[in-house]
Amino acid sequence: MQKETYPDTNDAVESRYDDYLMPIWKSLDVPVKRSSGCTLEDFEGNEYLDCFSGISVTNAGHGNEAVVEAAKDQLDEFVHGCSYVHPNEPVAAFAERLAEVTPGDLQKTFFCNSGTEAVEGAIKLARKHTGSTEVVALEMGFHGRTLGSLALTGNTAYKDGMAPTINDVSHFAAPYGYRCPRCDGDECGAACANDLEHVIKSHTADDLAAVVVEPVMGEGGIVVPSNEWFQRVKEIAHDHGALLVVDEVQTGYGRTGSLWASDHFEVTPDILTQAKGIANGLPLGAFTASADVADSFGSGDHLSTFGGNPVACAAALANVDELQDGIVDDAAEQGAWLGDRLADLEDEYDVVGDTRGLGLMYGVELVDPDEDGPMGVAAAPDADLAKHVSQRLRDEGVVIGVGGFYKNVMRFQPPLTITREQLERAVDELAAAIDAETD
Ligand SMILES: Cc1ncc(COP(=O)(O)O)c(C=O)c1O
Repeated sequence: MQKETYPDTNDAVESRYDDYLMPIWKSLDVPVKRSSGCTLEDFEGNEYLDCFSGISVTNAGHGNEAVVEAAKDQLDEFVHGCSYVHPNEPVAAFAERLAEVTPGDLQKTFFCNSGTEAVEGAIKLARKHTGSTEVVALEMGFHGRTLGSLALTGNTAYKDGMAPTINDVSHFAAPYGYRCPRCDGDECGAACANDLEHVIKSHTADDLAAVVVEPVMGEGGIVVPSNEWFQRVKEIAHDHGALLVVDEVQTGYGRTGSLWASDHFEVTPDILTQAKGIANGLPLGAFTASADVADSFGSGDHLSTFGGNPVACAAALANVDELQDGIVDDAAEQGAWLGDRLADLEDEYDVVGDTRGLGLMYGVELVDPDEDGPMGVAAAPDADLAKHVSQRLRDEGVVIGVGGFYKNVMRFQPPLTITREQLERAVDELAAAIDAETD
C-alpha cells in the first residue's frame, strides 16, 4: 500500500499529534524539522534560538558532530546487545569513564533508559543496601512520572487522579529561600535543613533507606540551595542510616557549569542518578554508586532489556569528551554573565521577583508585586504573565521554558554551546516581552 504523504507544514505535524498521540503533549508550538547548535528550524523555514535544549538535554549542542559520529560508528557495528546478557565495549568504556568523572568513590553504574528509571533503580538499591524501606524527598521536587519516582515527586499536580503511588515516602521543605517562611527571603542554610530532622521524627518510623534531593531543583523552579543546607541534609541522612541519593538527571553533564552540580556543594552522593544530558539526546539513564553500595545488588536484582544500549553508550562517551573539552568551562563563564544580566532585570522590573541559578541553569521568577505570595512571603506568583511572556518570545523566535511549582518561572537552560551574542539576544527579547506584556 502506498504510504500517505503529508504536506511539509507545521499544521500537518500538529494535527497528527492531535489525532494519534495521547493528549498529554504540552507544546511550545515549535514543530521541529531539524536542529543544529542552538537553533531549531520548523517546517516552514522559521528559525528559533533554543534556550531550553528539549528540557535540558542537548547540552553539547544539537547535532554535535562528535557525538553523532560516535553513534553512527556504533550503529555500523551493532545496535543491540542487551548489555546485561552480552557484555560489550561501549558499555564497559562508558561505565569506566563514569567512575573517573563522578564525585568521590562512586564507581559502579547501572544503565537504564530514562531519568525516572534511574530514580526507581536507585531506590531499590538503597533499600537493598540498608535493609530499610522509607524514603524522604523534597517538597516541590521532581523525580519522574512512574509510580515510584512519582511518589518522591513533591507536587500533587503530577499525581492528581493517578495515585496511589508507592508507600513509605515523606517530604521535607525545599531550600526555596525566596519563598521560605523560615528564613523569609534569605538563603536557606543549616537551620532550614533541620526540617528533614523534624519530618523524620514526625512522619516516619525512622527506618530510612534514602533521602533523595535534586542539587538544583529544575521543575520546582531552579531552586539553588546553599552549601550549608546541602551538607546538613547529608549529615542528617547519615545520622538516620539513610543513603543520600542525589538526582542529577537535570543538573548533570555540565548544566550548572561543572560536570555535576554536587561538585559546587562539596557533597559526594551515595548514589548519583543521571539521564537527560548524558548522551546529548539519545535515550540513556544511569545511576552510579560506590562499590560497597553497588555490590548490595545481586545477580537478577535489577535489569533492563534496552538499558545500556551500545549506540547510546558510545554517544555518551563522546559526549563527555566534548563536554570536558571546554564546553563545561564555557558554560560556567557564560552562566556568570547571564546571572549578572538577569539580576539587573530584578532592578529594572517590579514583576521580576527573583533570579537565581548556576551555570546555564537560570530561573526568572515572575510575580504580581501588588499581591502577597503564599503564606504572606514574597509577592504572588504570576503564572499568566509567564505564559504570555513565553508565547511572545516564541513569536519573536526565542524558546525559553516555563516551569516552577507555581508555573511562573522562566527557565533558561540552553545548549551549553550558546554564544554570548545569542545569550544577549535571549535576555533582550525577554526584557522586551516583559515590557510588552506589562504595558
Ligand atoms: C531531576 C529529575 N529527575 C528525574 C526526571 C525524570 O526524567 P525522565 O523524564 O527522563 O524520566 C526529571 C525530568 O525532568 C528530572 O528533572
